[in-house]
Amino acid sequence: MNQPLWPVDLGPVICVVGARPNFMKMAPILRAFSKSIPVIPTLLVHTGQHYDKDMNDKLFEDLRLPRPDINLEVGSSSHAVQTAEVMRRFEPVIDQHRPSCVLVVGDVNSTLACTLVAVKKGISVVHVEAGLRSYDRKMPEEINRLLTDQIADRLYTTERRAEDNLVREGIAASRVCFVGNVMIDSLIHNLEFARSPAATLTGGGFDAAVLGGSEGYGVVTLHRPSNVDQAETLASLLRVLNEISHQLPLIFALHPRTRTNIERFGLCHLVDNPHLMLLPPQGYLEMLGLIAGARIVLTDSGGLQEETTALGIPCLTLRENTERPITVEQGTNTMVGRDTDAIRRETGGILAGHGKQGRVPELWDGRAAERIACDLSRWLLDQHPPEAKA
Ligand code: UD1
Repeated sequence: MNQPLWPVDLGPVICVVGARPNFMKMAPILRAFSKSIPVIPTLLVHTGQHYDKDMNDKLFEDLRLPRPDINLEVGSSSHAVQTAEVMRRFEPVIDQHRPSCVLVVGDVNSTLACTLVAVKKGISVVHVEAGLRSYDRKMPEEINRLLTDQIADRLYTTERRAEDNLVREGIAASRVCFVGNVMIDSLIHNLEFARSPAATLTGGGFDAAVLGGSEGYGVVTLHRPSNVDQAETLASLLRVLNEISHQLPLIFALHPRTRTNIERFGLCHLVDNPHLMLLPPQGYLEMLGLIAGARIVLTDSGGLQEETTALGIPCLTLRENTERPITVEQGTNTMVGRDTDAIRRETGGILAGHGKQGRVPELWDGRAAERIACDLSRWLLDQHPPEAKA
């Protein structure tokens, strides 16, 4: 039996990744597109927003992502320059490949930059993880989310409330499709390959014996400018982490921005403590192993709020707001802001066994990417019916 083929005049779907949190969202999408009937042809474009081995290559390997077809190599700079560079370099890619649509994920600068270019060239844009809102316009990601959703053509959401947010902003419900969470697709797909925390610690030069103790360990990540770009804020967070680490050893995976600022602000003494183990940014499988075995996760990452909810691990989010409220309402997440008393108190509660139990949200079942493949091919083929070719 011959499989139906993708119409030759329809063009590939250009799939855009730029920064670390995009990679685990794109991997299941590419997998699902390659298994879809007809196979959805793709062109993987990496903007190069993240480029370090730790932030990039290792994750590609762990997630078995194919090498990007095109790397725009924009690197780091101010928001304006980074966004502008992505736009400048992405435009010729669209001209050359005439895609059927551009698919973007998440909320990083590359997401918005590529959306703007495509839409202005009359190419449809599909946004995966649409409709999340923190209602905090000081966050660069909130601006990226708002603008991308306004101009994208097809919006895939991870939770039902996202559609309400979009409709409130004047977006037609017919553009929105609730599919579940592709980040959790990656988690479910890779959990059995997660690296053991002992191997990760040993690899980082630490004594894994600490994990043999009955108390277990906690995991920390911090990288938001609002937490790490001011010396006073960063110092007060490091002080409370230092204190907690005497109750429970903490493994702290350091984003390059955080490491640079600890050094720049002269705060190294606050992390010079054998119970606070500093590691470089971790690979996907290492991080999965670390959080799956943790007693608590303290973070300002969006992805970790979702992953801990899916795994049932108590999470304290060191932010004033979240664009992922479902992780608080249904999952294991508690918002503590930068309030050191709240961080101390909530950590104490979790260590005393009073952490939230939570439940896994609707459609966080490992099949979100399949739903996207199914809906997207129908949507694209409907717009370009074969008879229209004649
Ligand atoms: C970006 C995303 C953020 C996401 C985060 C995950 C935006 C606005 N922000 O923030 O939503 O949560 O990625 O990490 O898109 N750097 C390196 N090596 C790299 C990349 C960055 O050393 O491979 C350093 C550079 O000094 C750079 C800084 O990290 O200036 C920040 O990188 P950038 O891509 O601007 O933003 P992130 O803070 O990583």
